[in-house]
Amino acid sequence: MPKKSPAKKTPSKKRYVIVGTGGRSFMYADALLRTYKRTSTLCAICDLNAQRMAFHNKRYVEEWDCKPVKTYDSADFDQMIAKENPDIVIVTTMDRTHHDYIIRAMRLGCDVITEKPMTTDADKCQAIVDAAKRTGRKVRVTFNYRYSPSRSKVKELLKSGVIGDVKSVHFEWLLDTRHGADYFRRWHRDKRNSGGLMVHKATHHFDLVNWWLGSEPKVVFGLGQLGFYGRANGEKYGNYRPYYRASGSEAAKDDPFAQTMDDVANLKGLYLDAEHLDGYIRDQNVFGDGISIEDTMNVNVLYQSGAQMSYSLTAYSPWEGYRVAFNGTKGRIELDELENSYISAGDSHISDGCTHSTRLMVMPHWEKPYNVDFVVGEGGHGGGDVNMLADLFAPKKAKDPLGRAAGFRDGAMSIMTGIAANQSFATGQAVQVKDLIQLH
Ligand SMILES: NC(=O)c1ccc[n+]([C@@H]2O[C@H](COP(=O)([O-])OP(=O)(O)OC[C@H]3O[C@@H](n4cnc5c(N)ncnc54)[C@H](O)[C@@H]3O)[C@@H](O)[C@H]2O)c1
Repeated sequence: MPKKSPAKKTPSKKRYVIVGTGGRSFMYADALLRTYKRTSTLCAICDLNAQRMAFHNKRYVEEWDCKPVKTYDSADFDQMIAKENPDIVIVTTMDRTHHDYIIRAMRLGCDVITEKPMTTDADKCQAIVDAAKRTGRKVRVTFNYRYSPSRSKVKELLKSGVIGDVKSVHFEWLLDTRHGADYFRRWHRDKRNSGGLMVHKATHHFDLVNWWLGSEPKVVFGLGQLGFYGRANGEKYGNYRPYYRASGSEAAKDDPFAQTMDDVANLKGLYLDAEHLDGYIRDQNVFGDGISIEDTMNVNVLYQSGAQMSYSLTAYSPWEGYRVAFNGTKGRIELDELENSYISAGDSHISDGCTHSTRLMVMPHWEKPYNVDFVVGEGGHGGGDVNMLADLFAPKKAKDPLGRAAGFRDGAMSIMTGIAANQSFATGQAVQVKDLIQLH
């Protein structure tokens, strides 16, 4: 295995490479090539699809006025590390491949920034944890949700003790028929790729709860089903139209669930024009065959702190957003957020999941309830993306009193709830998290 040579390092600028150049990579490339270009260098991008990398480079040059970035085929990842000598590898590939790049990057002497979910199952998670311990390298998991002002405010309130010790959490997350449906069009629809929405999506939510409570999951029980999407449900409820993929299909024309790609520049350039190379079809029929993930999930969790949670995730709701409530020994906190729905890579990456409206309320026992104000964040994921990028790439780090920066342990514990829930869906039994992973 080729090793990095320390000789090439420029001390003033941090060197980065990105592996996985789909929709999410825009945000990191934008930060490195534009916002933080004085202190960062994006040395190279790496993917198994050369056309997708070419699309990014065209955009960097034509729209961002940057020079093209070197490209490497995924088979040449190790050579890229040896040649480009990055300090940090950013992993934005399909979920089931994260562990491979995280572990190889650390073995080759790099730190890692990885997108969520850190990985998709307990064995891969254990391999990452072991490699991080063996190499002493840093793994940052980019939980942008922690950085949104409303969720940070909740952390602040809970930390202040205003509602005492939290005994239970009631958390409902709704994905709508635009954004929620999108997981059923792409690689996510195969549970082997994404771990299902319990891992791929709920890793965000379970991480928030771990962080909010300052605790970790202990016992998980869950029920899950595919109740709305998929061929059988489509036929049962009258939503099925006879087509495999939306672009170019007559039968998809009057289907409100269809997402075509030839009319959206990013989707066309990134996926439609690149699919001849790898067969990645991004616009499949959400009521087609072959879906192995759930769209209706309910989970109970017992935390190490003694708190309990009831959590629900629905992927076919008329509105997008969530409601979370904390019941404490001195009162209750409620946070409701209505979010703007989006399609990954379909719109500007910086507006993905913008907040539409928020209600944050504290209800102390025996006192008047009150609304809590905070500065509403601009940009993607409730303002979380912009704040997180500053934390990752700004030369001067702001203080982090809320502990928003997440490492491999947070990454591991955030997926354990979903991995345990998946096991519980299959067996009907409650799952002890300690039986899935060894962190010590
Ligand atoms: N934090 C967030 O809010 C957020 C939002 C969107 C996506 N994400 C995460 O970002 C990651 C990428 O998502 P996306 O929407 O960009 O998906 P995408 O399908 O648009 O892109 C995935 C890319 O990975 C590449 N890839 C697949 N297998 C590979 C391999 N073995 N080696 C190298 N490249 C490979 C594909 O060719 C593609 O370019 C996912 O892990 C996802 O969970 C996070």
